[in-house]
Amino acid sequence: MAKRIFITGTDTGIGKTWFSQALVQALVSGGQRVAVMKPVASGATKANGMLRNEDALMLQRVANVEAPYEQINPYCFEPAIAPHLAARDAGVSINLQTIADSAEYLAKQSEWLIIEGVGGVMVPLNETQDVVELIARLDCSVILVVGVRLGCINHARLSAKALVDAGINCLGWIGNCIDTGMPKLRENLDTLQGRMTIPALGVLPYASAPDTDKYVAAMTPVIDKILES
Ligand SMILES: Nc1ncnc2c1ncn2[C@@H]1O[C@H](COP(=O)(O)OP(=O)(O)O)[C@@H](O)[C@H]1O
Ligand SMILES: [Mg+2]
Repeated sequence: MAKRIFITGTDTGIGKTWFSQALVQALVSGGQRVAVMKPVASGATKANGMLRNEDALMLQRVANVEAPYEQINPYCFEPAIAPHLAARDAGVSINLQTIADSAEYLAKQSEWLIIEGVGGVMVPLNETQDVVELIARLDCSVILVVGVRLGCINHARLSAKALVDAGINCLGWIGNCIDTGMPKLRENLDTLQGRMTIPALGVLPYASAPDTDKYVAAMTPVIDKILES
């Protein structure tokens, strides 16, 4: 049965997909059997009449356990809006058990199941449940990607608190440098290091793509920590 890791983040657009892609590629090149999920996606285009989301397709491309798109991404909505609103407009209620069933199917065939979340931990999925409840239901360990920019210390600490309060096993946080010109970058990272209540897994540099040498080099110690955990 696969080890399940859920990748969440401080926000949308902060590097969850890049990190997930790099993690999957590293595990695959280490000879592991890796399946992926993007359980809920809003923002999709139609290909042959079927809705397809870029993150889910990217992860499907790098994984080496093949699966039907619908198992990887059971909930896919066209507009790039809050997922519970996209679901409501589509007349759908996101059911955590449906996602858990797909996760079970994928976990049976793989050694690792890497799951990219949507938005951050307190994003609503339906009338009553948020991403944090999905993580608990899937029985995943979590990595929190912190998009390092102004405001991230607050977002990172609140996200970690929500995960810890929900009793979720946190492998740790990653600092992802998305802002080249950020003043006091080092000092912000030091503050995060001092104040975060979950382990630090590493810092990823500003890069042109997640498969550039410097990004991959920064991933190496992170992967070692994940393998040890
Ligand atoms: N380390 C990085 N260096 C430079 N740009 C980055 C980095 N990580 C992410 N980005 C930028 O942020 C965008 C959003 O990243 P992505 O992984 O898709 O975020 P998320 O999955 O959290 O929405 C990327 O398309 C890229 O332009
Ligand atoms: Mg993404």
